[in-house]
Amino acid sequence: MNIDILLGLQWGDEGKGKLVDAISPAYDVVARFQGGPNAGHSLEFNNVKHVLHLIPSGIFHPEKINIIGNGVVVDPAVFKKEVEELGPPVEEIIKRLVISTRANLILPTHRILDAAYESQKGNSKIGSTLKGIGPAYTDKASRNGLRVGDILLKDFETLYYEHLSAHLDILKNYSFEFDLKKYEAGWFEGIELLRKFRIENTEYLINELLSAGKKILAEGAQGTMLDLDFGSYPFVTSSSTISAGACTGLGVSPKKIGEVFGIFKAYCTRVGSGPFPTELNDSTGELMRKKGCEFGATTGRPRRCGWLDIPALKYAIMLNGVTRLFMTKADILSGFRKVKICTSYLIEGREHDRILFDNQTQIDPVYTDLEGWEKDISDVRDFKNLPSSLKAFIEFVENQTGVSVSMVSVGPDRTATIFR
Ligand code: GDP
Ligand code: IMO
Ligand code: MG
Repeated sequence: MNIDILLGLQWGDEGKGKLVDAISPAYDVVARFQGGPNAGHSLEFNNVKHVLHLIPSGIFHPEKINIIGNGVVVDPAVFKKEVEELGPPVEEIIKRLVISTRANLILPTHRILDAAYESQKGNSKIGSTLKGIGPAYTDKASRNGLRVGDILLKDFETLYYEHLSAHLDILKNYSFEFDLKKYEAGWFEGIELLRKFRIENTEYLINELLSAGKKILAEGAQGTMLDLDFGSYPFVTSSSTISAGACTGLGVSPKKIGEVFGIFKAYCTRVGSGPFPTELNDSTGELMRKKGCEFGATTGRPRRCGWLDIPALKYAIMLNGVTRLFMTKADILSGFRKVKICTSYLIEGREHDRILFDNQTQIDPVYTDLEGWEKDISDVRDFKNLPSSLKAFIEFVENQTGVSVSMVSVGPDRTATIFR
């Protein structure tokens, strides 16, 4: 059996949580492969909204196995809060969730370092979620990290204090005030809770489940345009958000990748700094933010909004090998008389459709205007009942990208999902 991947094609917040939850019934296992508590994955059912940061979005389906893979960075304090606020009793979550021994830990000082580095950057700050992601992945790559498996060692506390002392030495170079004790207590309580969970070499578990014919869905976090290698560096996150990241973040061979579901919003949003060619700093952008409730699920920050960007979408499709497109938030554009799609960039008088290496070049989007759809579509559940102008919008995207849109989402609830 192959493993399917669901991931974001834009700058994150495309609706991954909602869709993983919606398609989970077709899978036996849901596995997160990268990122950490910088993610905020919302899902909604029975009129209740849940926001997940570390726990995979299949967790509300009792019979499914959920895995936090080796590519994820885990903050025990965030984990504890999330487990306690999730809904199902802790014993039930323990049954449904397995965590990789090899996932790296986010230490309390990683969060402080994240904040110290950002404050020193001033105006050129990345706009990090301040969850300690960059410093935790830095320690992983420089072979200085602590991993979830280490918490089972007798001398874990000694190891922790060695790492702490190294971080405190770095922090001496920054005039940055912090209160370590406040966060550390909750962090150690999180370690205690983590020890009650199944902690395993999940690469074996995943490959054994595949061999046994189980269906696995890999859940991405962030989005392709925030990828460490291919995003607008340095305004990116610190992990590999693309489909290749699922291989290294779970321990599966590229030969075992099946479908790659690429999610995009019918428009674009971005939280944090960095280039955003189609950004609208006007009343239209304001309207998208208001109608789409475009405020970060993790930090509450307003999301920057703009029109759909085809060059960026094609780039993401190429990098990920997307086999099917899923489009979300089509309902938010209801009521717009005209909608725009950016098909190329005008750079120094010439049209381009490639993503540039640098972040400084002036890029002017070239738009195609399409007919909007007046009708509220949030109750539509059958593709044929969607307005013809929305169908034309979808067809336009398919023609531009060469990939079919096999799902359209028209609301936050798990049922507001139209499969073709
Ligand atoms: P994720 O990080 O990709 O999981 O996305 P987020 O949860 O951060 O942000 C997506 C937001 O849009 C959440 O508030 C979802 O509840 C909501 N959402 C997802 N799909 C749709 C949709 O089709 N229509 C509307 N109106 N909201 C949606
Ligand atoms: P989900 O999974 C949107 C952005 C931050 C910042 C940059 C680096 O919910 O789609 P980091 O904390 O990773 O060092 O921040 O990446 N960012 C996200 N933006 N959705 C996310 O996750 C994000 N995770 C990180 O805003 O610009
Ligand atoms: Mg999100």
